[in-house]
Amino acid sequence: MEIVVVDGRDAEVFRRFYEVKFGVRQELEFPVGLGTEEARVLMSGEHADVRAEGLGLVDGDTWLGVAWLDWWLVGNTDTVDVELAVAPEYRRQGVASRLLEAAIAKARADGRRIVSGANLAGDPVTGESPGTAFAAARGFEQKHAELHQVVELPVAVSERPVDGYEIVQWREHTPDEWLKQFLELLNGMSEDVPTGDRTDAPIQWTPELLQDAEARRVAQGRFTYTTAAVHTASGELAAYTQMGGTPETPDRLNQYDTYVRRSHRGHGLGIAVKAPNLRAIQAGVGHPAVLHTWNAPENTPMIAVNTKLGFRPVAQRTMWERVL
Ligand SMILES: CC(C)(COP(=O)(O)OP(=O)(O)OC[C@H]1O[C@@H](n2cnc3c(N)ncnc32)[C@H](O)[C@@H]1OP(=O)(O)O)[C@@H](O)C(=O)NCCC(=O)NCCS
Repeated sequence: MEIVVVDGRDAEVFRRFYEVKFGVRQELEFPVGLGTEEARVLMSGEHADVRAEGLGLVDGDTWLGVAWLDWWLVGNTDTVDVELAVAPEYRRQGVASRLLEAAIAKARADGRRIVSGANLAGDPVTGESPGTAFAAARGFEQKHAELHQVVELPVAVSERPVDGYEIVQWREHTPDEWLKQFLELLNGMSEDVPTGDRTDAPIQWTPELLQDAEARRVAQGRFTYTTAAVHTASGELAAYTQMGGTPETPDRLNQYDTYVRRSHRGHGLGIAVKAPNLRAIQAGVGHPAVLHTWNAPENTPMIAVNTKLGFRPVAQRTMWERVL
């Protein structure tokens, strides 16, 4: 049995890795996760914000388990994020433990201080799963939890415009006229999104980072819908929301960021941007799909907005850290 490092450019090795990594996601009532092409682009190319690496525990031709490592290059540069997946027939045999040991050795060699991970499949109320039992047994501490909500599209959307604000929408690239202000909102999102007790260094967004993120999404085959609200009197970009997906996994769409600038909160701009974005994406996609979102349970305004839009809770995602 040996640990292999996955080269995303090696088609056969990547296929075996992906089969285990995303195979386990099919155990979820509402599967989530990257499509093959989305994952392959992340793991085989160079990116401004992250280096993605794969490990496999392999016995001859058998792949028992894998680890996906995200080495953050901006923000949490002290942390490596590790996601483990073990093929069902090889569980409780120490496979994940061996992969974790290999990841920790790499993290130490790279000078990282923290190993973090997320468990997606937690019970919606208790958050518990085999993954949380594993994390607790291997010295990780729970730092945060997020409620996973879904809504089946299409839904009837009732828009709630707010006086004094106009809606603007764009797709894969931020228009030049909004670029500077959009970077301010991305920074605000990175600073303000609730992260519980997680180690969290906010990202300082630059035009280059945004360009890299947008180009990568296109290379991954993803589509993105952005709706923003502009304060008409001042011309200030006050709020935005983003949703997206990929034709590779047509049955699911994701809600990404939603952010209201601090000075514009309390006017209902969250739902004012979400509703038209939802309308646009469901019209654009044109077939039924499940829209997924994750929010901290303490983020009551966001969860209230989602509930109004028809979302319901299905699971809990918990985030864990171990200091090396
Ligand atoms: C969580 C997961 C990776 C564990 O893999 P594994 O190879 O079975 O884990 P190990 O055999 O190394 O387990 C180490 C310890 O973790 C704990 N543990 C692991 N699975 C457990 C379970 N189902 N119930 C209770 N404890 C469990 C035990 O303490 C175990 O030691 P023991 O078997 O001597 O009692 C695997 O169940 C899996 O792939 N699940 C689906 C994907 C997932 O949830 N990944 C976690 C996201 S990072």
